[in-house]
Amino acid sequence: MRKSLRTAMGKNNDFENLKKEGLFRERRTINSAQGAKISIDGEKFLNFSSNDYLGFANNEKLKRCMIEAIHEYGIGAGSSQLITGHIEPHEILEKKLSDFFNRHASLVFSSGYHANLAIASALINKNTIILQDKLSHASLVDAALLSKGKLVRYQHCDLSHLKSLLEKYKNNDLIIMTDGVFSMDGDCAPLLEISKLCNKYHALLIVDDAHGIGVLGGKGAGLIEELNLEKEVDLLIGTFGKSFGAAGAFIAGSETLIEAFIQKARTYIYTTALLPALAATITHTLDMIERSKNLRLHIRELVADYKKLSKKAGMCVGGSDNHIQPLIIGGANEAMQISKALYKKNILVSAIRPPTVPKNTSRLRISITAAHTKNDISLLVKTLSKILNERGQ
Ligand SMILES: Cc1ncc(COP(=O)(O)O)c(C=O)c1O
Repeated sequence: MRKSLRTAMGKNNDFENLKKEGLFRERRTINSAQGAKISIDGEKFLNFSSNDYLGFANNEKLKRCMIEAIHEYGIGAGSSQLITGHIEPHEILEKKLSDFFNRHASLVFSSGYHANLAIASALINKNTIILQDKLSHASLVDAALLSKGKLVRYQHCDLSHLKSLLEKYKNNDLIIMTDGVFSMDGDCAPLLEISKLCNKYHALLIVDDAHGIGVLGGKGAGLIEELNLEKEVDLLIGTFGKSFGAAGAFIAGSETLIEAFIQKARTYIYTTALLPALAATITHTLDMIERSKNLRLHIRELVADYKKLSKKAGMCVGGSDNHIQPLIIGGANEAMQISKALYKKNILVSAIRPPTVPKNTSRLRISITAAHTKNDISLLVKTLSKILNERGQ
């Protein structure tokens, strides 16, 4: 390796150390479409690691819809949205998103990461204090770090900590950015209380509900619908990579806020637009999400089953009643060993380790989807509890 490259890599080059600490990341090649069962090296695996919560990633109707849209609009947008990349399906999707989420305006992005980073250039100035939950998703953190403002984090869901920070910084421009459903813990932000604090301290409230949309709320509009807080949340962010089963993202809010993104958001202006065929497909997916009450109910029943069976087996289940169920192990190596033991039994549950989660909270992140069956859940709990027992955990 050239010396300059070695210097540039610095500590990051210490792969052996990462391996020793159980923090080395490896990819697996999947040879099938997403679903409750996936194929790896010709073997079938029961998949509890997917964010395809409604099982739409390989849905026949949606696949046909995308193929038709490709025939009409081709495979790419050709440029960014502000040049010639804002195509009819984008416009139709934005209107549909605004109606579905009860907002004045919406904007689509190539990914949730882009959508969150957009906040840095669209809304944050050097006088802005960005308050975030300690367990916010990395893309929210990065938005604040890339901005001219200052990031201040409050303890997870700790309202008195948040209040004390709002008091401390009350003379600044204040933005609170939080996940709706937390991605690695599955619990929900106390949005009602946070919105009251926002009113009191004149703070802008931004909620990224990537993991709540599709699964929570009567029509699947997420945590904000469930809590009836549409009027309290200034800006909603959602991704199409989770319950929509695809990729891409949107933001939704007032016309003025959305205009600020069109004018200023660098990750909107300087990137190729979302595939138009994907935008056309997502428009249909929204209708399917609205009609998927039975799938949401099925997920809820599976989660209840999982919690009941786990408790019976003596496993430690956390506070989440949602489709993301973390099983906290502690050490990264231990979490990896348990994940590998499950893999040997053809069950895929990823070990989530630092820096994705705080030190000593490495975990198995069990994702329960509408594509799973009751039998899948009982097989998971049986296999997992046997592995934990054999390890004396
Ligand atoms: C809360 C949250 N926001 C944003 C993202 C990023 O979304 P995307 O995968 O569309 O970039 C993710 C997940 O990846 C997420 O969990």
